[in-house]
Amino acid sequence: MKKILFVASESVPFIKTGGLADVVGTLPKSFNKAEYDVRVVLPNYMCIDAKYRDAMKDVASFQMDLSWRYQYVGVKELEVDGVIFYFIDNLFYFTGDKPYGDMQMDIEKFCYFSKAALAILPVIGFQPDIIHCHDWQAGLVPVFLKTLFAGQDFYKDMKTIMTIHNLRFQGMTGMDRLMDMTGLHSDLFTEDKMGSLGCGNMLKGGITYADKVTTVSETYAQEIQTDYFGEKLDALLRYRKEDLVGIVNGIDYDAYNPATDQQIACSYDPNTFLDGKKKNKVALQQETGLPENPDKFVIGIISRLTDQKGLDLIDRVMDEICHEDIQFVILGTGEYRYEEMFRYYQQKYPGKVSANIFYSDKLSKMMYAGCDAILMPSLFEPCGLCQLMALRYGTVPIVRETGGLKDTVEAYDEVRKRGNGFSFANYNAHEMLFTIQYAIRTYNQHREDWNGIVKRGMLKDYSWMHSAKTYEKLYDIML
Ligand code: GLC
Repeated sequence: MKKILFVASESVPFIKTGGLADVVGTLPKSFNKAEYDVRVVLPNYMCIDAKYRDAMKDVASFQMDLSWRYQYVGVKELEVDGVIFYFIDNLFYFTGDKPYGDMQMDIEKFCYFSKAALAILPVIGFQPDIIHCHDWQAGLVPVFLKTLFAGQDFYKDMKTIMTIHNLRFQGMTGMDRLMDMTGLHSDLFTEDKMGSLGCGNMLKGGITYADKVTTVSETYAQEIQTDYFGEKLDALLRYRKEDLVGIVNGIDYDAYNPATDQQIACSYDPNTFLDGKKKNKVALQQETGLPENPDKFVIGIISRLTDQKGLDLIDRVMDEICHEDIQFVILGTGEYRYEEMFRYYQQKYPGKVSANIFYSDKLSKMMYAGCDAILMPSLFEPCGLCQLMALRYGTVPIVRETGGLKDTVEAYDEVRKRGNGFSFANYNAHEMLFTIQYAIRTYNQHREDWNGIVKRGMLKDYSWMHSAKTYEKLYDIML
């Protein structure tokens, strides 16, 4: 039995701010249970729903040294869908109504968390063969393992993987501060290790010290080796290219299934989507206050409202988009200026634009089921999960060809009648607009062809099955 430990800052069903949580919560379920014992360690945030917190079992507690401090470490455990989750308990670090807040405090708390994730292992009696670390919050795990824990027999054969879900966030702070937080020696803070631009960089430490580095699509694995997408770490990533692989994410095909989904108005499958999607569209229009019309082309956006998502392109041509015979539904929260931007367009185009500036799982499902198209004009997109969920529900993605969007959406080819979505190459508002207009034309004037696109998307398999196998192979070659 191969033992694997995931270390991450968020996971469904406990706590989620983005796609990372979906991956950490669903990938472990997808491994072959007879061969891989995959467990997960997370922070025990106070804002995790009481229904889970109350169900957790106490496993252990001890004091851990962290630089010159001593900190309490509690360990709790909960099994969900056959996967064991451990929670690191510390009231000082994991309070508040959100998992993240002030960046400097976050850095301190994930220094603590990364060390604690290693320190608990002998105490709970789990000795992983591979520690699989996700994003900057777990970046120090490989560093601690190869330095402070190096002399100890218990840890000596452990291997590490650093998975990058988003290279933009690296966990950077002053060198002196990071030394003080971690107790790591100043030798480690040179530019070839975890120093970057005169600061300490937690993700860089992970990339430098991990045995393997992965990211969440093949295209993003190539892109991050270039200056444009590399976020100042491209040279290091090129240096590590023999150990860098892109493995595309999947989604949970049980949780996202239009044939069984209890949250949508009417269930359907690839043979009944014509009628099913119409009913769901009307239900969505009722829910979002838009005029009911099952033949109106409805475009959706379900997204964190940040720069990454290409929202400035939408701002640039929203008037032109709204001159088309369409409806537009937005769901998500994020940067204030984008929240305001969508509120403004809702006011300007009543009955056409519905801005839902909050997050709701139910409304997201209603949108996957009821929209005709989902728009994702991302500036960069390591993988993107929204397009996969949309495809599963027969909603056609309109995307920019970057990262995982490029790898999972095949552009419609009207001659060969192929493809499952629409795409454009350049980060250009009018290129996006023309692509949206092409999709609208196809829907209005060539409905048979449109339905073919929908059906091809629904029939394609974007579950974890393939990618979990690829991770298994990676684990195998490391051991
Ligand atoms: C991050 C990326 C997104 C990816 C997700 C899960 O949120 O921005 O593209 O799908 O991580 O890997």
